[in-house]
Amino acid sequence: MRTTIIAGNWKMNFGPQQASRFTAEILPELDKIIRQHPSMLSILCPPSISLSAVHQVMQSIPTHGIELGAQNMYFEDKGAFTGETAPEMVKELCSAVILGHSERRNYFHETDELVNKKVHAALHYGLLPIVCIGENTEQYELGETQSVIRDQIHRSLAGLDAEQASQIVIAYEPIWAIGTGKAATASEANMVIHYIRYVYSEIYGADAAQAIRILYGGSVTSANIGEFLAYPDIDGGLIGGASIKPDFVEIVRKSAEIVKK
Ligand code: 13P
Repeated sequence: MRTTIIAGNWKMNFGPQQASRFTAEILPELDKIIRQHPSMLSILCPPSISLSAVHQVMQSIPTHGIELGAQNMYFEDKGAFTGETAPEMVKELCSAVILGHSERRNYFHETDELVNKKVHAALHYGLLPIVCIGENTEQYELGETQSVIRDQIHRSLAGLDAEQASQIVIAYEPIWAIGTGKAATASEANMVIHYIRYVYSEIYGADAAQAIRILYGGSVTSANIGEFLAYPDIDGGLIGGASIKPDFVEIVRKSAEIVKK
C-alpha cells in the first residue's frame, strides 16, 4: 500500500516568527490525526529562511508522521553560488524537498535539465524529492497535456534507475489550476495521474509504476480533497494557499477519513 501524503507548500509566506506560531498552532492537531494513520504522512514546506524556526517547534512537540521539507535547493555541494542552499544543508533540517515547482520553472527559468540535476543530488543526500510536473493553460487548451507530461518525466528524471524512480514523489500540478481557485476535476486529475503511471511503467517497469506516489496539486481545499483521494491512483495532495490556513488541518482530517476506509 502506498503512503498517502498531504504536503503543504507555504510558498513565500511566513517568516520565522509567523512560521513558528503557525506550526505550534497546527502541529498538535495534525499529530493527533496522523498518529492514528500510520499509512499517512504530512510534510510542511516553509520558506527556507523559516525552516530552522519550524524545525525547532517540531523538535519541541513530539509528533509522528509529520516531516519538514524545503521548497527548493541547488544541486552543487557547496561554493560560490550566492543565495542558494546546498543539499547537505537542507538535509540538516529536512527529509524532503520540492523540486521543479512551476513557479520556479516560470519565474526563475528552471529547466527539466536543472531539475534533473537537483533530483539526483536530493537522492544522493537521502532527501525525498517531490518533483512537480504539469501543463500550462495553452498546452491544456491545445490538448498537449500528455506529451508535456511525458517529456517532463523523461527529462526531469533522466538517469534514475527503477529503484530510485519508485522512491520519489511526483506532484501533478496543472499550472492553470494553481492559485486560481479553479481545481482540475478529480476525474481529469486522475486521468493524467493514471497516464503518469503508464509512462512510468514504460520506462521503469510495472513495479515502479505501482510504487510511485503521485500527488495532485492546484486549488486543493478541505472541500475538494475527498474527491481527489477517492481515486485510487491519487496518493495525496500538494497544497498551496490552503496550507497556510487552519484549513490544512481539515484537509489532513478529511484525508485520514478516506485512508481509514
Ligand atoms: P494552490 O493550492 O494555492 O493552488 O497551489 C498549489 C501549489 O502550487 C502547491 O505547490
